[in-house]
Amino acid sequence: MGQIVVLDQNMINMIAAGEVIERPASVVKELMENSIDAGATKIIVSIEDGGRKLISVSDNGCGMDAEDLARAFEPHTTSKIKNSKDLHGISTLGFRGEALASIASVAQVRATSRQKDSTGANCVEIDCGEKSSVSPASADFGTTIQVRDIFYKLPARRKFLRTANTEMEHITEQFTRIALANKNLDMMLIHNGREVYRLEAQQGCRQRIAELFSSEISENLIETESNERGIRIFAVLGRPEISRTSNKFQYVFLNGRFIRDKFISHAIKEAYRGSLEPDRSPIAFLFIQMPYEDYDVNVHPTKIEVRFYNANLVHSQILGCLREKLLGTDLHIPAKLPTTVRTEHGLRASHRSQKITDAMAEFFRKHKPIQTQQQPGSAIKDYFSRQQTGDMQATDIQAYPPAIQIGSSQTTFIQIHDSYIIEQTDDGFLIIDQHALHERILYERLHSRIQNSKLESQRLLIPESLDVTDTQVDALKTNAELIEKLGIELVLFGPRVYAIQAFPTLLARADTVDFVRDLIDLLVDKGMSLDPERLLDEVLNMAACKAAIKAGQKLSDSEIKQLLTDRQYVEYSSRCPHGRPTTIKFSLSDLEKQFKRT
Ligand SMILES: Nc1ncnc2c1ncn2[C@@H]1O[C@H](COP(=O)(O)OP(=O)(O)OP(=O)(O)O)[C@@H](O)[C@H]1O
Ligand SMILES: [Mg+2]
Repeated sequence: MGQIVVLDQNMINMIAAGEVIERPASVVKELMENSIDAGATKIIVSIEDGGRKLISVSDNGCGMDAEDLARAFEPHTTSKIKNSKDLHGISTLGFRGEALASIASVAQVRATSRQKDSTGANCVEIDCGEKSSVSPASADFGTTIQVRDIFYKLPARRKFLRTANTEMEHITEQFTRIALANKNLDMMLIHNGREVYRLEAQQGCRQRIAELFSSEISENLIETESNERGIRIFAVLGRPEISRTSNKFQYVFLNGRFIRDKFISHAIKEAYRGSLEPDRSPIAFLFIQMPYEDYDVNVHPTKIEVRFYNANLVHSQILGCLREKLLGTDLHIPAKLPTTVRTEHGLRASHRSQKITDAMAEFFRKHKPIQTQQQPGSAIKDYFSRQQTGDMQATDIQAYPPAIQIGSSQTTFIQIHDSYIIEQTDDGFLIIDQHALHERILYERLHSRIQNSKLESQRLLIPESLDVTDTQVDALKTNAELIEKLGIELVLFGPRVYAIQAFPTLLARADTVDFVRDLIDLLVDKGMSLDPERLLDEVLNMAACKAAIKAGQKLSDSEIKQLLTDRQYVEYSSRCPHGRPTTIKFSLSDLEKQFKRT
């Protein structure tokens, strides 16, 4: 006899619920989305025991009549689409007609609803798929859905629920996503009778972020927008110093729907390239609007993923918008001055800045700062155009020709501990890590020049020889093109000996043999695993680090001036290529506060 049976509808719903309803937070998401689709301007979410006991969502939306209320909990029932054409261009959050049926198949549900023009409300109860008949009830306009004892008939699934706190964290996350995307709504989240969030409609984005996250985040945001090629972007970007270890704090909304998308994540990461250490992720809130027809939302049961028809365009618009803003923003790290907050971190920060302040006081006592009258002139244009065309000479870097300066204001600086430069600015001063800044400048130059051609090199008067192993010879042969681009000329001298005959002028500060050795090690190590672009980037990083001015190196005034001038032509000069800061900024008002002058 055949083994196959047709499952009854309730079983089908329970199985389907597994996809949509993973935990209480999924119920909160689905119910809130329904409220928004119903045109609500106010939503109250009330939770008990992390949602295990009760999830209640009330709205003042359009409501349902008795007939719809009975039907809404049947599988595949929706008012949002009618035919397959409607699937192209979905403008509502829901459309699959399965959320309420799924929820009602795994919990005890009571739904009460009243339409705006109706004299009374109706209610219906469903206990794990067993539906009562609709009966009159007393309630205000809108809809309230209460979900009790989720998964109580499914012990295997109930067992997977975590503590009330953990479930509440998931609920809060869903509430947060919806609250960020719908700033026009009054919203409340209550847990065990205690108010968690009360958000007023028409709050600005920053204020909502402050209430949902923290004022530290909301005070460190940069806003930008663009509207090109059918894609409207409003971006609220965290400054690099509030970056995190994961991309959990990246909120991307597409026409009001929270989504996760690998192209967009990549564009965000790329926009911050060079301003963050590689293991850090920026905080970012992106609100994207584009025609509903330009993507498919019907690819994931919870609709958290979409498929863009032109993903490259989305990527390039986002990257362009974000990067332009970040490059045009002063990302110098503001100094962390001692505070009265006695956290471990606070204490460390205060020791550090105290040490720097002490060192400075000492120095200013001993030395009168050097003052340079800035001279405007055509030299700057000349310098800039040479830089742009890549037509720079070795002397531009090493010998530090006479300083070229902008404007007519005065520059005042000193070098301390042969490692840091303190530069006076209009509203305070900067502390610059000379190695990190020079490293960033060299990296940018190497990067821009190698894009166009190979690096300019200098022949060595006496070639330097280098012993190599067979593996290293192989790595050199495989990467011959890269080595040529770098402007390094290697000639086989003996069976396992190479002679270095030419070396890039930009790297003249680096020790030739030492550099080539490290380069070979890197090629052996990573040559196979990295794509050519990443490999080149690693090589340039290493090159910039090795050829940069070192900490502990005394610099002449003209060398310092040159370094400060070069900084102005470099993207993200406030970070070294590894994303560490090159510059820390102190404002006069910080100092005044410290000295209790204000
Ligand atoms: N809060 C509400 N106010 C008014 N109508 C509602 C509300 N919640 C649900 N409905 C009605 O019930 C229908 C079914 O809701 P359900 O969430 O199951 O499906 P959906 O929202 O259409 O699609 P999806 O399964 O993708 O969420 C909706 O299409 C809507 O007509
Ligand atoms: Mg829905």
